[in-house]
Amino acid sequence: MKVFIPGGAGFIGSHLCEKFLADGHEVIAYDSLVLGKRELLAKAMKSPKFRFVEADLLDLERVKKEMMGADLVVHMAANSDISQGAARTDVDMQNGTIATYNVLEAMRVVGVKKLIFASTSAIYGEASVKPTPESYGPLFPISFYGASKLACEGMVSAFSHNCGIQSWVYRFANIVGPHSTHGAIYDFVSRLLKNPDRLDVLGNGTQRKSYLYVHDCVAGMLFGFTHSKENFQCFNLASKGVSNVRFIAEEVGRQMEKATGKKAEIAFGEGDRGWVGDVPYTYLDGSKLEGLGWRARFESDDAVRQAVAEIVREKISGEFL
Ligand SMILES: NC(=O)c1ccc[n+]([C@@H]2O[C@H](COP(=O)([O-])OP(=O)(O)OC[C@H]3O[C@@H](n4cnc5c(N)ncnc54)[C@H](O)[C@@H]3O)[C@@H](O)[C@H]2O)c1
Repeated sequence: MKVFIPGGAGFIGSHLCEKFLADGHEVIAYDSLVLGKRELLAKAMKSPKFRFVEADLLDLERVKKEMMGADLVVHMAANSDISQGAARTDVDMQNGTIATYNVLEAMRVVGVKKLIFASTSAIYGEASVKPTPESYGPLFPISFYGASKLACEGMVSAFSHNCGIQSWVYRFANIVGPHSTHGAIYDFVSRLLKNPDRLDVLGNGTQRKSYLYVHDCVAGMLFGFTHSKENFQCFNLASKGVSNVRFIAEEVGRQMEKATGKKAEIAFGEGDRGWVGDVPYTYLDGSKLEGLGWRARFESDDAVRQAVAEIVREKISGEFL
């Protein structure tokens, strides 16, 4: 199979490139590097079956040209810096909504018939039902990022039903692990490397979310892809349990102390949100995908522990795992 991966130089996308190559497929990663990094593709670059295109999804003609001949599109590109959306209200519209329209329109024109789309728990906003199932509604996201992803899901559904594009939409929990480009663990480790004495945490540490290990995320996406055959399907992709920010900060503090010998004071802020648009408590009901026979290897706290160890190793060594 020839797989086209917009956002392939990002955190999750780079793992997907490696996985598809390991399974014997041809891979084209298409990324503007606005948030991704070429270094994350070091392993993929060694394969003769891999090609990297540095270009923007907002360039529709280029997307069509590079996508030609693909059998599957795995669309991972977005503005993953959620807090930036409040400061610059067009960034999710451009790199989320319009970029996704371009991916879908290119698929229609060049005739690619299968799409896997990375969506998010942020589309649920502050849902009153926890764990939240896929059937929850009405959906009122509270971030520009969530709003953009909800619009994207709508477009994926419409292209699916009008243009014969079979689609798998995954609403991810918080994904953690090596190659991270953002997120709480990545931020805490980066801050402690700058100032080993003190870690200032946004919010009071009570924010709770479910964390899914990145290799579980990739495995879950591929499991749903091979085990479900509807024209349009949507799954939550999550682990069991939730972890709070205090636990994450303390785990980072512990593992950084082990690695550097320096103990930091951890100072929490006020309020239960890290930033405007942050949802203080999210917990996805993953039973729909589990019903097909899939389970995440790590529960939330174990995913965090594993990811902290690996991100600390990467940040200290300067080499990606
Ligand atoms: N990491 C998570 O916890 C999480 C949770 C829910 C959903 N998601 C979704 O999963 C996908 C991958 O997330 P990630 O964590 O790997 O983020 P990431 O930022 O590491 O990867 C996104 C990639 O998209 C690229 N990109 C953005 N705009 C582009 C454009 N206009 N043209 C070309 N490339 C562009 C970036 O350069 C980046 O490499 C995203 O769609 C994200 O919204 C991630």
